[in-house]
Amino acid sequence: MRNFRIAPSLLSADFACLGQEVRDVIAAGADIIHFDVMDNHYVPNLTVGPLVCEAIRPHTQAPIDVHLMVKPVDSLAPMFAKAGADIITFHPEASEHIDRTLGLIKESGCKAGLVFNPATSLSYLDHVMDKIDMVLIMSVNPGFGGQSFIPHALEKVRAARQRIDEYTAKHGGEIWLEVDGGIKVDNIAAVAAAGADTFVAGSAIYGQPDYQAVIAAMRAELAKVA
Ligand code: DX5
Ligand code: ZN
Repeated sequence: MRNFRIAPSLLSADFACLGQEVRDVIAAGADIIHFDVMDNHYVPNLTVGPLVCEAIRPHTQAPIDVHLMVKPVDSLAPMFAKAGADIITFHPEASEHIDRTLGLIKESGCKAGLVFNPATSLSYLDHVMDKIDMVLIMSVNPGFGGQSFIPHALEKVRAARQRIDEYTAKHGGEIWLEVDGGIKVDNIAAVAAAGADTFVAGSAIYGQPDYQAVIAAMRAELAKVA
């Protein structure tokens, strides 16, 4: 059975007490903190920068997964590495030089990944699989929490799973397959069955009073997937 990871998105947390929200969700059984960075340029919303990443860093030992929805990418990525990020992902359309950006992230000591919008082709992976630690499939258009899961994403997840398995069978290593947007207790098993191992959930977790109950319900669903 695959190792499944649950990554709550802070986007739906209470921004007036982020440190507490980080600690609470990890205590409730989450594995990773998903940190959404939006710039009101690449996406029509504005969230948080490296200062906030740095501020939450002392609150957990769990990996911080920084999802950059910004353009350009290269100046900000190393700032998030310094601010304590463990994983940094970006959208290939937002970088003029994808290979260079991946290199910058790896050089800064972080894991690196590419993010695919619903209409973005996986072919961006063709020549950079050796530099990738994570593939992130968007199951909504980026910019806002609380949107509905786009069903076609399941096909995309299956295609990404196949690419990852083919590559790692030949070259070894480990590449995580994360899905982001509209993931809830009632669809997480289908997303896992399609091949995902890491699940971002913002409103599904932070929108409920009992984080532990939601995460336990998600794990129970995941346990049904062989
Ligand atoms: C959307 C963000 C997501 C978002 C997910 O652009 O990348 O991480 O917070 O929120 P939910 O789980 O509510 O769809
Ligand atoms: Zn995200």
